[in-house]
Amino acid sequence: MRMRAVGLDFANRRLGERMVPEPPWPGDGEVLLRVRYVGVCGTDRFLAFWEFGAPPPDSDFLILGHEALCEVVEAGRGVANLAPGDLVVPIVRRPCQPPCASCARGRRDLCLTGRYTERGIVGADGYFTEYALDRAEDLIFVPAELADVAILVEPLSVVEKAVETALRLHDDAPRTALVFGAGTIGILAALAFRERGLEVTVCSLEPEDHPRAGWLREAGFTYEQVPTRRTADIVLEAAGPAAAAFAAVRALAPLGVCGILGAASDAAGDFPFRSLLLGNQRVFGSVNASPDAFRRAVEDLARFDRRLLSRLIRRCRFEDYVETILGPAQPAPKPVHVVAEGR
Ligand code: BGC
Repeated sequence: MRMRAVGLDFANRRLGERMVPEPPWPGDGEVLLRVRYVGVCGTDRFLAFWEFGAPPPDSDFLILGHEALCEVVEAGRGVANLAPGDLVVPIVRRPCQPPCASCARGRRDLCLTGRYTERGIVGADGYFTEYALDRAEDLIFVPAELADVAILVEPLSVVEKAVETALRLHDDAPRTALVFGAGTIGILAALAFRERGLEVTVCSLEPEDHPRAGWLREAGFTYEQVPTRRTADIVLEAAGPAAAAFAAVRALAPLGVCGILGAASDAAGDFPFRSLLLGNQRVFGSVNASPDAFRRAVEDLARFDRRLLSRLIRRCRFEDYVETILGPAQPAPKPVHVVAEGR
């Protein structure tokens, strides 16, 4: 049997749809999944512009989709914690083999060799298709009542890791957070910092009358269009351009901690080493997320402002991928393709 899949044809440099073989019935420790929803993010756009990524070995086609909500069809032998009908979110990264010290201690997100694979990104097919096979240890259980927002678990896992790192690196009790970027990651970060008692401002390019600015204000956040004169104890860059990363570092209060999540291109510019040193400030980069960060994401999602969460999501049909991956940004930052609705 064959199934529909959306992906990148690396031989002809084309984004498109293909019929691919369905995965086999699950073996020991494996789980067969039916994909319900697939989210699209900036990484998918980078991939479609051939900025990075790779198909699985021996293939020229990479099935896209690393943000997914799936339903268990069948659990193989030895899988005690999942049953048909359960909802799960797959972890994106698979440990390198043989495992490096980080991968061996369960921190594949801190892989030292760079020889990991990431479903839908590098070296392994993703979930923009109808069925998938995974090992049970790569799946995170999601309660059914979170089904409508659980597509946000994967981006939130990335935020959880960065928030935990920022709070751990701060030498006192941080009170204020400033988030650059009002995309999915920025807005989820605002929610996560507030959940930990910080006073949060989001600063982004969108004008003050943009829907995202309105949603944030309505949810109780301060919103400012860039540039800002504010400083904060924790500053998180979730915007992308290097200019945002420089602005983020400059916005640090004494003892401030700055996390870089979006700016992934090298760039020349003014870096405030003097205030970094004299202010005992810290700057870190963060990518991907540990299995624990995924679990924290599920817990936090249940506590977050559900109205704001649902405003982030824009549901689309399976076949609308050219528009969601290559088309212009829409007010709702998270396009979500409906592959199969729940029963
Ligand atoms: C994903 C991460 C991944 C990163 C780089 C992000 O979009 O959320 O899991 O590590 O892209 O490939």
